[in-house]
Amino acid sequence: MRTLKVLISTFSTILLSGSFAAISKVAPPPPNPVQLFANLSKTDFGKDIHGEKVDLYTLENSNGMIAKVMTYGATLTELRVPDKRRKSVDIVLGFDSLKPYEEQSPYFGATVGRFANRIAGAKFVLDGKEYFLAPNNAHNTLHGGIRGFDKRLWKAEPSNEGGVPSVKFTYLSKDMEEGFPGNLTTSVTYTLTNDNELKIDYVATTDQPTPINLTNHAYFNLAGAGDESVLHHLVRINADSFTPVDKELIPVGTIEPVKGTPFDFSEPREIGSEIEKVKGGYDHNFVLRPGKGESKEAAVVVEPISGRTLTMLTTEPGVQFYTGNFLDGTIRGIGGFYPKNYAFTLEAQHFPDSVHQDSWPTTILRPGRTYKQTTIYKFSQGVSHANWLHN
Ligand code: BGC
Repeated sequence: MRTLKVLISTFSTILLSGSFAAISKVAPPPPNPVQLFANLSKTDFGKDIHGEKVDLYTLENSNGMIAKVMTYGATLTELRVPDKRRKSVDIVLGFDSLKPYEEQSPYFGATVGRFANRIAGAKFVLDGKEYFLAPNNAHNTLHGGIRGFDKRLWKAEPSNEGGVPSVKFTYLSKDMEEGFPGNLTTSVTYTLTNDNELKIDYVATTDQPTPINLTNHAYFNLAGAGDESVLHHLVRINADSFTPVDKELIPVGTIEPVKGTPFDFSEPREIGSEIEKVKGGYDHNFVLRPGKGESKEAAVVVEPISGRTLTMLTTEPGVQFYTGNFLDGTIRGIGGFYPKNYAFTLEAQHFPDSVHQDSWPTTILRPGRTYKQTTIYKFSQGVSHANWLHN
């Protein structure tokens, strides 16, 4: 018996040392983060609920700006921007891990699609055929439905052309996904330039006619995420009119002048100056003045204490100005808790519910045509209040 035990133990020692030798031959895991280029690295950001691996990319520019984007939802998770004393803080709401994005994010930094904002009654008629969508906001469809582009895994192609870091995300949205017709091939490219621009380029093609309206849903707070409300930020929006909404936040179909209303941001004003007069807060589409070139200036926002200034340019005809009205302080993200009005969004878009308004710019993409959208968020510091408007 004793001999047998000795034999077994010797045998298992041989086996174990053999498997240790085998383990030690396995290559060590790649470093986390992996430096892809001097100004672009990749980090493992965990696995999603389907067990798929999610990657986070960090882009840096020569002025200390940092943008982080991940494959889940082609989402902007962090944006660090220097103030007038060159102090950088994160100015977008977000989380430092994947789980809260899957479980509680109200579209923080996400790519929104196939159709940004609301489609009334979760249905529309296209070329005589009625399509039924997934309702996820009362009986309406919001931001593409139950599992919109923000909850999909995108493929990433990092690059560093001309020394400028960028990540191109691609996603194939299958025919009838969330009820939308046509296989839609989509790409969203984030580029961080040395001019302190975060540029977002969208391209899409389809094999059947489909509505499309893509945007980014970054929640900005130029004082720093979680720092204070945005009510003292100064805003100018390059719009003479807006699209009023009903109580379900569906456009009623008219385009009305902003003049003489709390929606008039044609001259710079504090976000909070008349917000009390707007039930719930701002959550409206502003009709941008047509620009001369491809991209036009849509809005400028200044946080007076830090001096951080955001200038938004876009090719889109509208912008959704939303003042974080549904934030209620229960979400804790990077920088702390996020109560009501702790952020604003400027979502470049075609007008919400356009599929029901024939006279508005069309959102229908047809086979053989290419959808293109470019939006730039450009940052500067210490813009003087007297002249920041009239550039
Ligand atoms: C919409 C809001 C919505 C928010 C978060 C905005 O684009 O206009 O009504 O609550 O996104 O989903």
